[in-house]
Amino acid sequence: MKIFLDTANLESIKKFNDMGLLDGITTNPSLLSKEGGNPKNAMEEICKIIKGDVSLEVLSTEYSGMIEEGKRLRQYGKNVVVKVPMTPDGLKACKSLSSEGIPVNVTLVFSPNQALLAAKSGAKYVSPFIGRLDDIGQDGMHLIKEIKQIFSNYDFKTQILVASIRHPIHVIDAAKIGADVVTLPPAVLDKMLQHPLTDIGLENFLSDWEKLKAGNPDVKI
Ligand code: E4P
Repeated sequence: MKIFLDTANLESIKKFNDMGLLDGITTNPSLLSKEGGNPKNAMEEICKIIKGDVSLEVLSTEYSGMIEEGKRLRQYGKNVVVKVPMTPDGLKACKSLSSEGIPVNVTLVFSPNQALLAAKSGAKYVSPFIGRLDDIGQDGMHLIKEIKQIFSNYDFKTQILVASIRHPIHVIDAAKIGADVVTLPPAVLDKMLQHPLTDIGLENFLSDWEKLKAGNPDVKI
């Protein structure tokens, strides 16, 4: 399963990229807005740091604007995936861009039918937002199971990019289902790294070593 980071924060991107954890990045207008500053610089920088796919989202809601913006977004890097919303114009743009060889991520997907249609339009990725479904009392992960089954039945090549992830259990469940990608807020990836027994274990190793050193002051490894 690929791991993308769902952020426009350069510090977090560098931090997790240096650990070799990142296969790509997803951004959206809200995430760019949260960082402030000039979004162009941020998008350019992200595309330089990350070798894998970087999803950058269009702002236009109509077809020709999406195509224009999609092509402009591609100037930021060869690894740019154009993110379009799950609307009729979004799917039309998805079809055009995909047939020109420009990869597309169809975002704001909340039903299996929407995912099916995005795949039919040639999307490289479909982004179901599971946390937002959980927020309104629906079962976000059930949507991933349904999409996985539909895509497998018909051998669609579109990848399931699980989005709007809220906690590490979402990641485990998505991996068990066999989702292709999870896109994670930095805080969730941080939590995945941690375990209290790791911290206690390390503390004990170091204090035991100090005891050994008391009797052998010059010992080194
Ligand atoms: C995906 O590409 C989106 O950026 C994202 O996962 C949205 O998640 P949210 O519901 O936390 O805003």
